[in-house]
Amino acid sequence: MWEYTEKVKELYKNPKNVGEIPDADVVVEVGSIVCGDALTLYLKLDGDKIVDAKFKTFGCGSAIASSSALTEMIKGKTVEEASKISNKDIVEFLGGLPDQKMHCSVMGQEALDKAIKKIKGQKVEDEHEDEGAIVCQCFGVSENLIRRVIKENNLTTVEEVTNYTKAGGACGSCIPKIEDIIKEELAKVVTRPKDTAGAKPMSNLKRMQLVEETIQNVIRPVLIRDGGDIELIDIDGKNVYVALRGHCAHCVISDVTMKNLVQEKLREFVEQDIEVIEVK
Ligand code: FES
Repeated sequence: MWEYTEKVKELYKNPKNVGEIPDADVVVEVGSIVCGDALTLYLKLDGDKIVDAKFKTFGCGSAIASSSALTEMIKGKTVEEASKISNKDIVEFLGGLPDQKMHCSVMGQEALDKAIKKIKGQKVEDEHEDEGAIVCQCFGVSENLIRRVIKENNLTTVEEVTNYTKAGGACGSCIPKIEDIIKEELAKVVTRPKDTAGAKPMSNLKRMQLVEETIQNVIRPVLIRDGGDIELIDIDGKNVYVALRGHCAHCVISDVTMKNLVQEKLREFVEQDIEVIEVK
């Protein structure tokens, strides 16, 4: 059973700004009823200020709460201010969403992005070109959207991408492509060594730099999302000493986290024979 915050329950039962704006300056639709979630966003502008925002949505309670939150957040803001709102801000406004419902916040951000493009005068054709190739046919999820949620939310697994976009959540035939995209995005945040096979040994300085980058950009975001953290204690050759913090420090499966997340990612991004040692 999913846990919902009081704010989500409140906005689900009494959503704000439901309905249409008859003389709206901008109307956009995202999602599709066939896929289970759809949102139509109406905006009224006065100069560059959003003076009214309403929505109609088809979907679960989280979709209604996320859409309601979005309209509350953008009313009274300038277009420029609204353009800085991300799905993370919507989740924060709601006090959190279950992992499996993160896609509702992404749908809100998608609608806002689309509306802002229209306000800025982008043609519809340009808008579609910008959406990129469709990766998940079942849910109509584009490559650009998948890359964006990975980057903005530090996602590292297919399951997380499915939670945030639904992609991969039906037939599963798009999963290999999602895995490729995740690898490409992770590779961008960590400067991998160019050639490890037959190359001269990695210097200690380079190894330290890669270990630090991998912990900071790949491992910590995953642990922080679960209420934990990790601290790099020392590096001695290929032995990396780390300590788990927060929830992870007391977790009964901390040894699994060490092996399956910390060591695996360091071996993937730094060197194949890195050994991770937990300091209690
Ligand atoms: S194509 Fe993505 S789940 Fe079917």
